[in-house]
Amino acid sequence: MLRRGFIGLAPAALLQAQDDWKWDVPFVATPTAVIDSMLRLAKVNQGDTLYDLGCGDGAIVISAAKRYSARCVGIDIDPERIREATENARAAGVSNRVTFLEQDLFQADIRPASVVTLYLLTSVNERLKPKLLKELKRGTRVVSHQFGMGDWKPVKKASKGGRNVMLWVVP
Ligand SMILES: C[S@@+](CC[C@H](N)C(=O)[O-])C[C@H]1O[C@@H](n2cnc3c(N)ncnc32)[C@H](O)[C@@H]1O
Repeated sequence: MLRRGFIGLAPAALLQAQDDWKWDVPFVATPTAVIDSMLRLAKVNQGDTLYDLGCGDGAIVISAAKRYSARCVGIDIDPERIREATENARAAGVSNRVTFLEQDLFQADIRPASVVTLYLLTSVNERLKPKLLKELKRGTRVVSHQFGMGDWKPVKKASKGGRNVMLWVVP
């Protein structure tokens, strides 16, 4: 599977060049070591249904399906990312456990999720928070790379290569 290091665009890139953005957040990949940390913090396992909201090239979803045999759904508004993620899942041999949907994450049906992963922005997370709290089942784990959720404080935190990873549990 494609491994992504810490070189390249850092979280700060998410905050730059806002005029160029077509959607809520541009595509910036989470490094592989941070993906590992996110999946560990959320204690992803075979019984989970993981949703990555803004899945980019599908690396989080593919990793959860491959390493933990979780059922996974990746949602992205960019058709190019969905094409790339679908091809990456096929190459990784996990097409039978993953689904990619070209959708706006704010409109998506996320009710089946037992784990939700995010690499968005604090402002986007805060807009998403009411949907998470309304639609997700009690006990669903939400894990975010780098960006918090305003006054909803995480129950656990980790750090990997200078990146923050945070975990919330739906009350
Ligand atoms: C920072 S990238 C994260 C990619 C991947 N989750 C990861 O961590 O490697 C954010 C992704 O969100 C997608 N996105 C932005 N706005 C969205 C929206 N309203 N609905 C769905 N996806 C969106 C972008 O196309 C981009 O692929």
